[in-house]
Amino acid sequence: MAAVHTLARRAARAALSKTCLGTRALHARVGTGIGPRRLQACNGLGALSALPPGRGDIPRARETFFNKQLFPSTHLYSTMTIRPKQYLISVDVGTTSTRAIVFDDAAEAVLTHQTEYEQIYPHPGWHEQRLEDLIGTVHECLEGVAAKLKDKGISKDQIPAMGITNQRETTCVWSRSTGKPLHNAVVWPDTRNTVTVRLLSLKSAQGADALKERTGLPLSTYFSGTKLRWLIDNVDAVSAAHEADDLMFGTVESWVLWNLTGGLDGGVHLSDVTNASRTLLMNLKTRAWDPECLSFFGFRSSMLPRIVSNAEVYGTVATGAFAGLPIAGMIGDQQAALVGNKCVEQGSAKNTYGTGAFMLFNTGHDIVPSNYGLLTTAGYQAGPDAEPVYALEGSIAVAGSSIQWLRDQLELITSASEVGELAAKVKDTGGVYFVPAFSGLFAPYWDDTAAGTIVGMTAYTNKCHIARATLEATCFQTRAILEAMAKDSKQMLKALRVDGGMTNSDICMQLQADILGIAVERPVMRESTALGSAICAGVGMGLFGWDLARPETLARVNVQGKTTFEPQIEESERAWRVRGWDRAVQRAMKWKEDDARATRTPETMARL
Ligand SMILES: Nc1ncnc2c1ncn2[C@@H]1O[C@H](COP(=O)(O)OP(=O)(O)OP(=O)(O)O)[C@@H](O)[C@H]1O
Ligand SMILES: [Mg+2]
Repeated sequence: MAAVHTLARRAARAALSKTCLGTRALHARVGTGIGPRRLQACNGLGALSALPPGRGDIPRARETFFNKQLFPSTHLYSTMTIRPKQYLISVDVGTTSTRAIVFDDAAEAVLTHQTEYEQIYPHPGWHEQRLEDLIGTVHECLEGVAAKLKDKGISKDQIPAMGITNQRETTCVWSRSTGKPLHNAVVWPDTRNTVTVRLLSLKSAQGADALKERTGLPLSTYFSGTKLRWLIDNVDAVSAAHEADDLMFGTVESWVLWNLTGGLDGGVHLSDVTNASRTLLMNLKTRAWDPECLSFFGFRSSMLPRIVSNAEVYGTVATGAFAGLPIAGMIGDQQAALVGNKCVEQGSAKNTYGTGAFMLFNTGHDIVPSNYGLLTTAGYQAGPDAEPVYALEGSIAVAGSSIQWLRDQLELITSASEVGELAAKVKDTGGVYFVPAFSGLFAPYWDDTAAGTIVGMTAYTNKCHIARATLEATCFQTRAILEAMAKDSKQMLKALRVDGGMTNSDICMQLQADILGIAVERPVMRESTALGSAICAGVGMGLFGWDLARPETLARVNVQGKTTFEPQIEESERAWRVRGWDRAVQRAMKWKEDDARATRTPETMARL
């Protein structure tokens, strides 16, 4: 890490000398007869962008000092900014695609490059991605962004840092000696490890809550620890590497960071506190790997990355268009969206509707245990010495992916936006409820034996009713989570901030407000996930005066306005519809219970 700090110091020094150079060039220009007024106007028009740019932020006092030296007899130094505009890059490695987005200091996304990767479904309930695709698309997006910078008149030197955000829990394993993947990534909704979870739950009198006090999580197919145990138990190459101490484990940010910083050639093996808090291995209080958890799973600690904060310089990009760029922010996608939505005060909350939907409620510095089926998780830690912020989380496994299912599997629609058009053609679902429990049910139900279920159909039912019921399903689950949050936190939200792909649908957001009975606020800027990691990178480099402990420092960030959806139905109708949903959930739950019982064979029990 000392080397990293030296690098950061060097970058800051270089920035300083470049800024002096820029100031000298400016001086020469003044000498050619452009008066102070004219110069200020030019500055406003961006004429100074032609000057040599600087990397890193120069404290304002020092900048003013240089101006005073150069323009002792003018008032220019008090109003002029000699620094070229600075930007941050965020790389968002989501479940379905990777995006690189360049943000300015007001969080406006100035350019973006996106690449999808293949989703691999080898068996029912299995979901994989190639590790090569995860890092390959990161390189592709970075090169794509670099190629577009010129068109925007932005120089690479105007980008002092990069942040990473990622799909969480997805489990990656690779070889320490060869650097090659030992298996495809097991993606977070994958439920192949149902038996593993069942067996692990039998190890403790607390059952699925065996590690809840330490980690804030129940034993579930969802988290990385149970996925990793499955890989070690079932894939020869992985178990041999574990045995030989050649195994490296990481969630997606670890794999991406290790590769970006050089891989076998000096790559750093780190995980940030938010991603680490989703493994069932990190102790929430100490924010370190918990020896009890490791022994519960039978894991070697040497395969684990080192846990770091969300905002600090981890290393620099080793190759490609951005070689040398410091990576200064790293945070799981849902926590990133919390930051990007500026939910940095205790009591604020957001819901992100992407592939799944995830509501996070900021509980400040308190670790609040849930009695109602929520997860207790790390929110963010804004630097190695910063006090961590925690959150309560309600996770919905299937949200936007249910719409992709309508498109790709049922072929009911040809694009996601059509779901809203169909839903708008009917005034209600005609009594139909769809519980899309494709990966069992997550919060607040936590039933891995639940199965996807459509109930209430009659000969009257048509595809419009199914489309509307699909949108409503995410809204009902969000309501169940909000109720659990109100009980756990003893606070009821007055409005819900939302973002993510599904929020593009106005009808979906109106249904959400109707089903919740509170206002739903949708910002214009909905790339909150990417923005959150850019903010972390800014904080990690000490840029723009951003400080997550002082929300006022983010006043200029993400203020492009919002649309508010107000509830439009009576309480009695809402209660009636919610009762219907609750009954539908009961029909979906425990559907695969017999499959689970069948797994308790003497052979599987012997593995314990
Ligand atoms: N107009 C729309 N109406 C309803 N759903 C939509 C609409 N547009 C996109 N979606 C849904 O939003 C989802 C994509 O959202 P988003 O881009 O936020 O996800 P993502 O970031 O790719 O997710 P992840 O990070 O998990 O990969 C898709 O599953 C899609 O079905
Ligand atoms: Mg996303």
